[in-house]
Amino acid sequence: MTRVAAIAGDGIGPDLMTSARQVIEAAGARIEWVEIEAGETARIEHGDPLPQVTIDTIADTGLCLKGPLTTPVGKGFRSVNVALRQEFELFANVRPTRALPGVKCLFPDLDLVTIRENTQGLYSSMEHWVGEGHETAIGIGVNTRSAMTRVMRYTFEYAVANGRRKVTAVHKANILKIFSGLFLEVAQNMAGEYPQIEFEDRIVDAMAMQMVRDPYQFDVIVSTNLFGDILSDLAAGLIGGLGLAPGANLGENAAIFEAVHGSAPDIAGKNIANPTSLILSGIMMLRHLDLREEASRLETAILEVIREGTAVTPDLNPQGGGTTTGMTKAILRKLS
Ligand code: NAI
Ligand code: MG
Repeated sequence: MTRVAAIAGDGIGPDLMTSARQVIEAAGARIEWVEIEAGETARIEHGDPLPQVTIDTIADTGLCLKGPLTTPVGKGFRSVNVALRQEFELFANVRPTRALPGVKCLFPDLDLVTIRENTQGLYSSMEHWVGEGHETAIGIGVNTRSAMTRVMRYTFEYAVANGRRKVTAVHKANILKIFSGLFLEVAQNMAGEYPQIEFEDRIVDAMAMQMVRDPYQFDVIVSTNLFGDILSDLAAGLIGGLGLAPGANLGENAAIFEAVHGSAPDIAGKNIANPTSLILSGIMMLRHLDLREEASRLETAILEVIREGTAVTPDLNPQGGGTTTGMTKAILRKLS
């Protein structure tokens, strides 16, 4: 049995987690789930959005499957997602965007991966007010050469290991000559060590336009924390939405697998959230554990259900009347 910490999370999280755990087990993976809490749910129950027992459990298992956590906007506690990534030095956030057969979307053959530096940049949690009456707000971004290097090394090694042809480094080094320039410099130097991988760099604003017009020109995208966050949601939109977008937060000593999306308060409690995002994150976890057969079995089952298109959630088939639990049952039938 492999021990995996499970954070169900907020909003649509618990529904997605129930679904993902069921199908992962039905695929034959022998997992002992250690349930822990974080986010809004933990704050209400334990008075702390990130209880020590949650940190200790992830440190112990080294593995976590996680639902989304609500972060108050413009006030309240610091993002627990960011805190977990920094606590465990989960420096690479890997977000594959692959169009799935049967899904109507803008780019039905798209297959790209966004790798986001996950511990620094403008998410360094250093911001404060200056002067009287909240007149001036200051935020500090931090990029270190060592952190840029480790995510860039990971990116090129990922490209080689996964048969990818090209890496695009996305920055804003024309304006942020030092802060973003360091990232670009590290990328260019690293590219020299991997002559078999094509390399280019793009300025982030133009990149956003290019991704919408012709994303097929991209393969592996690497960027700093904020830009990677934004562009990976954009990428999800190209293939049919956030309900299909999985992710992995990877470090030397721990890995947390979670969907790209958040807690989706607009559809929480309605049993209509697409479980695919968290299930695909679970498949990434199974491959990380080298449980390849189980991963392939589950992938085949969910892709069949999506291709058939009848039992899927409304984000994929608005007229079909599908639900989270119904889609889960359809996947379980394929696996049985
Ligand atoms: P969101 O990603 O939760 O939702 C954006 C849109 O996508 C909504 O219309 C939602 O209904 C839809 N959507 C998301 N997941 C879906 C799914 N599985 N199936 C079908 N539709 C889906 O973004 P939003 O509303 O801006 O953020 C809500 C909360 O989530 C915020 O507190 C935010 O901080 C938090 N958040 C947490 C993340 C995490 O835990 N890793 C990541 C992103 C946001
Ligand atoms: Mg995001």
